[in-house]
Amino acid sequence: MITCSAPGKVYLFGEHAVVYGENAICCAIELRTKVHAEKAEDVIIESVLGTTGMDIEVHPYVCHVLKKMQQFADIKGIRFKIESELPVGSGLGSSAAVTVASIEALNQLYGCGLSLEDIAGLGHEIEKTVQGNASPTDTYVSTMGGVVMIPQRKKLKTIKCPIVVGNTHKFSSTKELVANVAKLRNEFPDIIDPILSDIGRMSLLAEKSVNEKDYKTIGKLMNVNQGLLDAIGVGSAELSSLVYAARNSGAICAKITGAGGGGCMIALAEDNNASDIVNAIEDVGGSAIITRNTEEGVRLE
Ligand code: MEV
Repeated sequence: MITCSAPGKVYLFGEHAVVYGENAICCAIELRTKVHAEKAEDVIIESVLGTTGMDIEVHPYVCHVLKKMQQFADIKGIRFKIESELPVGSGLGSSAAVTVASIEALNQLYGCGLSLEDIAGLGHEIEKTVQGNASPTDTYVSTMGGVVMIPQRKKLKTIKCPIVVGNTHKFSSTKELVANVAKLRNEFPDIIDPILSDIGRMSLLAEKSVNEKDYKTIGKLMNVNQGLLDAIGVGSAELSSLVYAARNSGAICAKITGAGGGGCMIALAEDNNASDIVNAIEDVGGSAIITRNTEEGVRLE
């Protein structure tokens, strides 16, 4: 039995815009998904979603990993046990983390010799197969760790301040949200395209601030990014409530992370006020945890 794990991620800037080739800054977080794997007679996949065989409805990402990895190894049967600190469908990159950790588990178990670049690339192909339109961001950051400027794949300096993740506990479908933005863009290209470009420009502008650890400037820009995410229709009453609770309790900034519609928001905190922000989010009905940026991507445990 071997165990591999991969981190989740949060977007400081650029979700949705990145699907259209705009810049984004994404950062791996300490919350991880672990995949325990051993060779077996049949395919058995065990997770919080249930215990199944090759059931593409229940375990789409892992089933597509198994299919894809047949190109590199003769995989007859496998037992996968998935344990995750990342809630499913919450914008924290749970699908990328399970995809990347499963690829690495098979890579290790069957000696496929895949590099990190190969793993990130295969992960992206699988996300596209399952989700339709998906950027390489989540799978790349989950594979490599750190803070990454997309699409250049340029590593920026570590974010040192605490990151509070607030969860609305409303399931959000990335596929649906991405499709909704595409629809709005088709209807009003002259309005939506400049918004997506502005989001991209914000990422470029923030690069220097990330590298200089100027969290105040990053925060101002992240709050603007939040307004633009609302403008393209991926906000919700619950997300706004958590965002304002965080800001009113002293957060440097607060915004949606990931696809939106439900799922999670993030707040950057000072070293001494992260637990106040957690309490404020819980007071308005969310749940919250404090995490940090991690430099560690996919790894063999
Ligand atoms: C989802 O975590 C982020 C989106 O930008 C979709 C993607 O990049 O594939 C909404």
